[in-house]
Amino acid sequence: MQLPIRMVILGAGDRGRTYASYALAYPDRVKVVGVADINPAAREAVAKAHNLPPEAVWGDWSEAIAANPECDAMTVTMPDAVHLEPALAVLDLGHHLLLEKPMARAWKDCAKLAEKVREKKDRLVIVGHVLRYTVYFRKIKELIDSKVIGDVVSIRHLEPVGYMHAAHSFCRGNWGNAERATPMILQKCCHDFDQFVWWLGRKCTGVSSFGSLTHFNAAHRPAGAAERCLECPAAIERACPYSARKIYLERQDYRYPFVDKSDEGMEKLLRETDYGRCVYACDNDVVDHQIVNLRFEGGITVAHQMESYTYCGGRETRIFGTRGEIIGNGRTLTIRRFDNRTTTVWDSVLEAGSPVNSSHGGGDFGLMDELVRQLTAGDPAGYLPIFEASLESHRIAFAAEASRRANGALMLAD
Ligand SMILES: NC(=O)c1ccc[n+]([C@@H]2O[C@H](COP(=O)([O-])OP(=O)(O)OC[C@H]3O[C@@H](n4cnc5c(N)ncnc54)[C@H](O)[C@@H]3O)[C@@H](O)[C@H]2O)c1
Repeated sequence: MQLPIRMVILGAGDRGRTYASYALAYPDRVKVVGVADINPAAREAVAKAHNLPPEAVWGDWSEAIAANPECDAMTVTMPDAVHLEPALAVLDLGHHLLLEKPMARAWKDCAKLAEKVREKKDRLVIVGHVLRYTVYFRKIKELIDSKVIGDVVSIRHLEPVGYMHAAHSFCRGNWGNAERATPMILQKCCHDFDQFVWWLGRKCTGVSSFGSLTHFNAAHRPAGAAERCLECPAAIERACPYSARKIYLERQDYRYPFVDKSDEGMEKLLRETDYGRCVYACDNDVVDHQIVNLRFEGGITVAHQMESYTYCGGRETRIFGTRGEIIGNGRTLTIRRFDNRTTTVWDSVLEAGSPVNSSHGGGDFGLMDELVRQLTAGDPAGYLPIFEASLESHRIAFAAEASRRANGALMLAD
């Protein structure tokens, strides 16, 4: 395929704009040739940044599909509920596809998509599993494959969501309600399951899970708290770590998804949208913590924990092998060998050069690099395995949720 790859953005929110920004950084590789978004401000932001003519700017994704613009690839970077239909439509038009995770909201829909991808197997479908493309997680894979710690026997892995991220995304935001979005374990941890499958190169043969929503509910709402943080009595609001005033206005955190990030814009947002609501008065119903035990072929076990109540993010991993162990804190990897009793520390920031050139530890642009690499390599035989690996992570996540709902019952067992 000739460069630059011509790409249409379906969904110009945070993810769509992030992938589109790759084209600004590397105009010789990717060119954004169209955008669709039902939010005028979002689509205009992309149209302006990429100098698009009015005929290449649409509202609903279906308008872009109907227009059938000349392009090589499209993104599906819309909310979870708007993935399956547009993904099928993009493939039917014969384009390559960058599809955000989760690929669909139900396992049966993932299977339906898989059928289409297998039918169109000369089209690349790359799912937004950005961790695979970070220096840090690639190093873990490299260390495991090198057998520096012998054969992996088990893994302990923590996904610390972070208390502010939990309040922002999983109470007030897009992913708080499983009916509107998806179960949190799929949303947050299909990335982690993708890592386990990739690191181990084995199939998962058993899943069991427990978890619940313990804190972000009406029972924990302080007496006298208002519906909205900006209207809450100061004595209550000042004592609340989840106060929207504290997070968005004072710390100026979590503004990244919004087009208008100004103080005035954020204050209006807090007055008018769910982002200003008391965390104990939202319609959230997803869990705030969940543990998943996984068994892989060969008896390898993984103990995975997703936890909202952490001070900050950064996955922590401990990998136990027959000849040593790897301890990862999201930035450094400590490798301890039993044979010569050595300890070495590898630092991803020193390795990658600081600062990394995109969010998710460089994974967002890493994924775009991979898309360009695959499409210019001209070997469609490599496309399907990339999708199938993502499918496996979703299979595990849906099984974990089914197990949690069935009080920890064993799932996926052969
Ligand atoms: N890979 C990752 O690490 C990662 C991280 C965050 C989010 N995500 C996933 O990416 C997807 C998008 O998330 P986001 O954070 O960008 O959300 P967002 O709300 O910022 O953006 C979604 C955009 O889609 C637009 N949209 C909604 N319905 C549409 C329609 N019918 N036609 C056209 N546009 C429409 C919205 O107006 C919005 O601008 C979600 O599925 C999310 O789960 C992935």
